[in-house]
Amino acid sequence: MTSILVSQLAEYSGQSVSLKGWIFNFRSSGGLYFLQFRDGTGFVQAVVEKSGVSEAVWGACEQVTMESSVALSGTVSEHPKKPGVFELRVDGLKIIQRASEYPIAKKEHGPDFLLDHRHLWLRSPRQWAIQRIRDAVITAIYAFYHQRGFIKIDTPIITPNACEGATELFGITYFDEGQAYLSQSGQLYLEAAIMSVGRGFDFGPTFRAEKSKTRRHLTEFWMMDAEAAFVEHEDSMKLQEEMICAIVEHCLMHCQQEFTILERDTTPLKKIKAPFTRLTYTEAIKKLNELGSDIKFGEDLGNDDEGLLTRDSSVPVFVHKWPASIKPFYMKVDPANPDLVLNDDLIGTAGAGELIGGSQREDDYEILKSKIEAEGLQGEEYQWYLDLRKYGSVPHSGFGLGLERTVGWIAGAEHIRETIPFPRLINRFKP
Ligand code: 4AD
Ligand code: MG
Repeated sequence: MTSILVSQLAEYSGQSVSLKGWIFNFRSSGGLYFLQFRDGTGFVQAVVEKSGVSEAVWGACEQVTMESSVALSGTVSEHPKKPGVFELRVDGLKIIQRASEYPIAKKEHGPDFLLDHRHLWLRSPRQWAIQRIRDAVITAIYAFYHQRGFIKIDTPIITPNACEGATELFGITYFDEGQAYLSQSGQLYLEAAIMSVGRGFDFGPTFRAEKSKTRRHLTEFWMMDAEAAFVEHEDSMKLQEEMICAIVEHCLMHCQQEFTILERDTTPLKKIKAPFTRLTYTEAIKKLNELGSDIKFGEDLGNDDEGLLTRDSSVPVFVHKWPASIKPFYMKVDPANPDLVLNDDLIGTAGAGELIGGSQREDDYEILKSKIEAEGLQGEEYQWYLDLRKYGSVPHSGFGLGLERTVGWIAGAEHIRETIPFPRLINRFKP
């Protein structure tokens, strides 16, 4: 008998196999048991017929509880009316561990209860599907960059300085060396690395001590930063657009079962094609005022503004060339207007919010130095970063994609806390 995974059932139609996993639900009727079995690669119904199994097997069946771990053996049979749907006709069942009464029942639970039980909640089909989509997004990103000559560069998490503004830093005491911080983005280090490798991307946890309690903010989240030498503002937006299309296409191709479990209508995803809408910040403010927002030039976009801007769009919207005054020091000044910078935020459709933030980088030593000083940052901590503008400086651009926001957008999840295995929010870091 061959030991297989649920994902391989189709290859074993009519054959005797064994499987190991968990029973997530069951019912009995007369001389039959219907066990809902999962092994992590998929789900299958296992049918036990009293007249067809030994007394010991039937007895084990009667002992099964929700989430008990089991080893099953039986014959794979294709559903007579639903081709491609398989069942297991059980001839053997062994309980590996009989589960205690499972705390997550079928009734509705509130978010706090579910988050307290995140270690178990992860097993539910919905959470399973979301984690699989997360994996598909990561896989698509690696493939996309490797096809385009980028290599993976691992940037540090313990850092001496701020990348995205000093107010949102998590501080740590670093032995006798003093104050250190958890990274907000690997960008600055990636800029150094691409002067060696030309094109690079990182992918890792990033930290923001933001007091934001919204459905789009985590204090620990995963970011993919990409950076490329000799790529300027317009080409950077093109790259971002191609990456988003490649991610969506990959998920549509590989995650059909997951979308079905999530009851996610994929019609809107099929419309995510280049070119995306491009609005300058100036145009976006004008449009928002026309649509009834009272946002003023020089202000950051709020959630409602992002929603309004994408309301009638089937594709994500770039808002680019923002006022320098509300953006970080490293963004390159727009040669056509010194009050603006060559940056972009990519806003996802359907209320997903900002998926990507990026810019061309300031590559002039003196301008960058004065911007660092103007922001009141500690100049000596940025000397290495300024060095990059002293030894063969080149035009270059990059951007950071928030993994959880992207997964939430694709999966259609209301709150990004579902898109990371163990979410960290301002009021939660357990389990
Ligand atoms: O726009 P941000 O702050 O950009 C940077 O950090 C740049 N240094 C990236 C770069 O140019 N390499 O963050 C990038 C993305 C956002 O667009 C958003 O998707 C996500 O990271 N993000 C968050 N996701 C979840 N929770 C938070 N608190 C987030 N803050 C940012
Ligand atoms: Mg941003």
